[in-house]
Amino acid sequence: MKKLILTSALIIGSIALYAQESASIKIYPNQGKEIIPKEIYGQFAEHLGSCIYGGLWVGEDSEIANTDGYRTDVLNALKELHVPVLRWPGGCFADEYHWMDGIGPKKNRPKMVNNNWGGTIEDNSFGTNEFLNLCELLNCEPYISGNVGSGSVEELAKWVEYMTSDGDSPMANLRRKNGRDKPWKVKFIGIGNESWGCGGSMRPEYYSDLYRRYSTYCRNYDGNNLYKIASGASDYDYNWTEVLMKNVSHRMNGLSLHYYTVTGWSGSKGAATIFDKEDYYWTMGKCLEIENVITKHISIMDKYDPGKQIGLLVDEWGTWWDEEEGSTPGHLYQQNTMRDAFVASLTLDVFNRHTDRIKMANIAQIVNVLQSMILTKGKAMVLTPTYYVFEMYKVHQDALYLPLDLICDKINVKDNRTIPSISATASKDKNEIIHISISNVNIEDFQEVKIELPGVKINNISGKILSSNKITDYNSFKNPNVINLKEFKGAKIEGKILKIKLPAKSIVTLTLE
Ligand code: AHR
Repeated sequence: MKKLILTSALIIGSIALYAQESASIKIYPNQGKEIIPKEIYGQFAEHLGSCIYGGLWVGEDSEIANTDGYRTDVLNALKELHVPVLRWPGGCFADEYHWMDGIGPKKNRPKMVNNNWGGTIEDNSFGTNEFLNLCELLNCEPYISGNVGSGSVEELAKWVEYMTSDGDSPMANLRRKNGRDKPWKVKFIGIGNESWGCGGSMRPEYYSDLYRRYSTYCRNYDGNNLYKIASGASDYDYNWTEVLMKNVSHRMNGLSLHYYTVTGWSGSKGAATIFDKEDYYWTMGKCLEIENVITKHISIMDKYDPGKQIGLLVDEWGTWWDEEEGSTPGHLYQQNTMRDAFVASLTLDVFNRHTDRIKMANIAQIVNVLQSMILTKGKAMVLTPTYYVFEMYKVHQDALYLPLDLICDKINVKDNRTIPSISATASKDKNEIIHISISNVNIEDFQEVKIELPGVKINNISGKILSSNKITDYNSFKNPNVINLKEFKGAKIEGKILKIKLPAKSIVTLTLE
């Protein structure tokens, strides 16, 4: 993938682009209104490639160290991220998944062909019990993606009963027979996935009616309260959102949206680790385009739901590159560089700005698929640069979003896009601690950033930084620690101004106490 791009810097005021740039941020510590829902930092696990098998799950008899069948190394790494919600079993897989094949004694579970993802044979050894128990181990909310494309209303209704009923009901008793007495708490349920595509190739009018029908029989059992999510649009399909808002309206609690940072759906998407400066800046532009897309979907939702009761859930997002050479076709296995880290930080900043409507987001996907947190190979595991962004950003979960003004240089990139050279999020947590995450997108120049925080007395500053020599750097199984978090010492207070020196291509999170 060779993209010819102009990356000329605009001149703002009298500041020209040299080796050092300047930017300023004014944070309004007393004007925060919105809590950043922790679910914005959500994850997604599909039966795709080695996300489940080999990634999360190896089985109790594996030589790989495991805790009741879950990889112990992966489990421990994920615990560090405070994963708030995990979406499963798909994706496209969800609309071919029949949950009853994945319960009961493993030897009796039938096999199936994973038609969407390389025709791999799925043995159903990881099913509902295994998934919901994993959520308990991670202390996260499960988000079940129901089968509307090829499943029946009865099948989905019974699934909800199996998971959440505490009564003397047939499905609750089946669950008890399978070793689980008490129901799990399941809040989030998706009524189909990509119903315009792999989830049934439907038109929005037809899907709206199916949503109404399927969701009617997803009951609230014994104090469990479902948050029902309609399968939403992809990218720029504003008509889908319009029709669903009109025809489904408040029957749904949430409407989803999928947006991938991808060069296109046909042909090469480019290698994850081989790209030049222009490719990198183009990627930042495509990633930030999500803000326009979100804003347009939100304006449609506002028309039908001015009280903002229906959440917009970006339940699939992230980078999508060519599969790594030598990996199994159809398994969407890709490496992860500092470029991916910036897609994560910039996208999370966008979500944090729109939390009056965006209530959840799920990066695709948690392990070994697309923009993953973790890569595994046999017994080995590496943490990706994206993992470290989620680790740095976890401080914003359920914190009060602090509005800010940001003045910085701009970079012109291909496709008539202009991107800011700096991106940021500020929030205040329950203990009144302020966290500021700042990304210096500029690949060559460091930036001096002046931060004003009127009325805030800072006694102590600490920070973490993610950066690397080359934007193409990544953690491999051979060199797993090329990129990781380091202590950041480039912040100081001068009078009432907090000054920080951000190295080129770096992401920093500051803690102000
Ligand atoms: O995340 C990979 C796939 O992308 C999902 O299965 C599908 O929903 C989307 O098209």
